Amino acid sequence: MRRDEIPTPALLLDLDRFERNLARMAQHVRATGKALRPHAKTHRCPDIAKQQVAAGALGVACAKLGEAEVMARAGVRGLLITTEVVPAASIRRLTRLVGEAPDTMVVVDHADNVRALARAAAEDGVRLDMLVDVHVGGRRTGVEPGEPALALGRLVSEQRALRLRGLQGYAGHCAHVMGWAARRTASHAAMTPLMETRARFEAAGLPVEVVAGGSTGTYDIDSELAGLTELQSGSYCVMDLEYRRIGGREREALTDFEMALTVVATVVSVAVDRAMVDAGLKAFSTDKPFPPEAVERPGIEYGFAGDEHGRLTLTDPSRRPELGERIEFFPPHCDPTFNLYDRVWVLRGAKVEAVWEIAARGRSD
Ligand SMILES: Cc1ncc(COP(=O)(O)O)c(C=O)c1O
Repeated sequence: MRRDEIPTPALLLDLDRFERNLARMAQHVRATGKALRPHAKTHRCPDIAKQQVAAGALGVACAKLGEAEVMARAGVRGLLITTEVVPAASIRRLTRLVGEAPDTMVVVDHADNVRALARAAAEDGVRLDMLVDVHVGGRRTGVEPGEPALALGRLVSEQRALRLRGLQGYAGHCAHVMGWAARRTASHAAMTPLMETRARFEAAGLPVEVVAGGSTGTYDIDSELAGLTELQSGSYCVMDLEYRRIGGREREALTDFEMALTVVATVVSVAVDRAMVDAGLKAFSTDKPFPPEAVERPGIEYGFAGDEHGRLTLTDPSRRPELGERIEFFPPHCDPTFNLYDRVWVLRGAKVEAVWEIAARGRSD
């Protein structure tokens, strides 16, 4: 099958660009002495996770237990669940998952959760590997750095059914700070308390063999931290418009990684002042204040026009879209766009080389 035969709207992955992104990140972590456990929340696709592992990653991070279950079933190991697992039924699923994939790690930020996990693990006869999730700003999850984190680490290390491995600190509020220098200042300020907490753990004899963090926006910033052992960047493998515009170390746009993900749509209606494509709210995520951008197709601007449609406004009347024309767009935000599709079409130039299932799509449970 060829690129122009794929039914639209469809999610496309440019394999050459994707492979260069994996190679570029692998080279970066090698050069900076870090490990890589890329975040699979970006793609929710076991085939992509396996490619990342083949390129040297330790495994993948998962935002949710459901994602981790899908990855484990597909044979991916070295999983880190980066969101606390709290409901009793979910904890039971976690112990089952760890029976299958024993090197899975999970984060924790509350003493009650530590005790509940320890109880379930003991009852189910498994040992859970744990990271203390440290709040590094952004007011999301995480125990406060310093003494509260240390107390929680001690509690974990006292549980026979738990094994403390180290720390996680994810500064999501720094990932998209515009401009590399400003982002560096913000991320170092956010991550310094994590590094101080690491030093306290070491002084107390608690393990810090894993200290995880970092995003695509801070991949070449957080790797400057001597105490960080692994990066968990996610979007770098495919990129999106939101990340491209934040700026890189040397360039105005973040071009260290290539835009490998597109959505292809078909022009299904033409009028004097507009053309309509068959890709709307169900084809692109809409959580950003900028629209999808046509790839190498000047003369049009995309606007959302409902569940099933996008409206192309003509900015160059000499480049009027034709009925049936296929147009590719870069999505504003890759993670929630992946989550809209059952599969991604994997392309080498014009040729479809594979179709990968986005098997953990919808698995936010
Ligand atoms: C816990 C955690 N780690 C890492 C990431 C990095 O992902 P990205 O590189 O796509 O920003 C995310 C993204 O939201 C995250 O939630």
